[in-house]
Amino acid sequence: MLDGRRILLVISGGIAAYKSLDLIRRLRERGASVRCVLTPGGAQFVTPLSVAALSGEKVYQDLFSLTDEAEMGHIRLSREADLIVVAPASADLMAKMAAGLADDLASTLLLAADIPVLVAPAMNTQMWRHPATQDNLATLERRGVRRIGPAAGDLACGEVGEGRMAEVLDILATIETVFGDGPLKGIRALVTSGPTFEPIDPVRFIGNRSSGKQGHAVAAALARLGADVTLVSGPVAQPDPKGVKVIRVETAREMLGACIAALPVAVAVCAAAVADWTVSNATKEKRKKDPGSPPPTIELALNPDILATLSEQGSARPRLVIGFAAETETVIDNARGKLARKGCDWILANDVSPATGTFGGDFNTVHLVTTGDTEPWPRIAKADVAERLAWRIVDALKETPR
Ligand code: PMT
Repeated sequence: MLDGRRILLVISGGIAAYKSLDLIRRLRERGASVRCVLTPGGAQFVTPLSVAALSGEKVYQDLFSLTDEAEMGHIRLSREADLIVVAPASADLMAKMAAGLADDLASTLLLAADIPVLVAPAMNTQMWRHPATQDNLATLERRGVRRIGPAAGDLACGEVGEGRMAEVLDILATIETVFGDGPLKGIRALVTSGPTFEPIDPVRFIGNRSSGKQGHAVAAALARLGADVTLVSGPVAQPDPKGVKVIRVETAREMLGACIAALPVAVAVCAAAVADWTVSNATKEKRKKDPGSPPPTIELALNPDILATLSEQGSARPRLVIGFAAETETVIDNARGKLARKGCDWILANDVSPATGTFGGDFNTVHLVTTGDTEPWPRIAKADVAERLAWRIVDALKETPR
């Protein structure tokens, strides 16, 4: 998506500078070239060597470097880029930018820049909230400087609040939007997430341990790439992903109804842990514990299979139907069986045995199972599983006729 784009990355001082190393790696993965400028503050947190190794380019640090001025010049640094990204953007560097100071390489090239600039601020909450910083930010935004973040959360200084640098994936998504629209623009996607709850009576239900982390991450990743995403979610505590239409349901039947209503879509990803059975003798009133009576019998009836139903939609079938398989034994064989039985195109098989921590955890180890292949993915964050899946969807849709 960023093929051939030239990014000039300014890394200023702040603990978040370590995240800029990941940013460099991911920008290059997407085809961008990255040239880096390290401020003296930035160099306290990451070394020029690591920045050079990841970017594959010389790192620029000094305004008055004879060689650099002879070979490159601070003006050409920005002339030979399509976008300047300042990540992290410290309060100090933003103040210099707003005031038009040019007393080091970073501030000088920013003053000389005639290309878009994106800042990802990172600082202590009080510094962020200070009227001086907010005035500087307002000045920069009035001049057309774009901003991503900061986010709220635990800060390196031990305080909690706004000031964390935006996550790398969000910075990447913003960079992509600066260059136009994501590769999934115009594509409608449906994602299911979380558990379903099947009532026993108005008070009790049968549920499962799904947190919605994996499904919500998939919805967020598809939205970041420009897709128009509907997320049908069972009861979860996850925040709504940005830019995603969220429909909340409780039971499998409600989930199926919401999914059918969301059609047509080009791609459907069923990450929800849908209850296979519903309680056919659920009562309208709370069941009473009668002393001396035997415990009540709960009768189960099969729920509709949402993944299979989406795969059987004839001309309204999504071009790509993807399921997950939650297994505790013979993971791949079972996933392959589900792929065939449910008629979907891909299955992401994951082991959900308690020791794996897959349910509710932040990491996942999946195998991508297709008709002809089984591809093991390493243990990575659920956000990265989602990101990787989203890019695979981009590639597959290019090859699938409309
Ligand atoms: O939510 P997290 O805590 O992040 O955990 C993530 C996860 C483990 C829930 C997720 O990665 C996952 O594996 N989701 C699928 C869970 C599941 O129901 O697997 P299954 O093997 O029982 O079902 C196979 C597929 O059929 C799934 O895509 C499921 O959504 C779908 N299905 C199942 C039953 C049903 N009645 N309708 C369905 O659509």
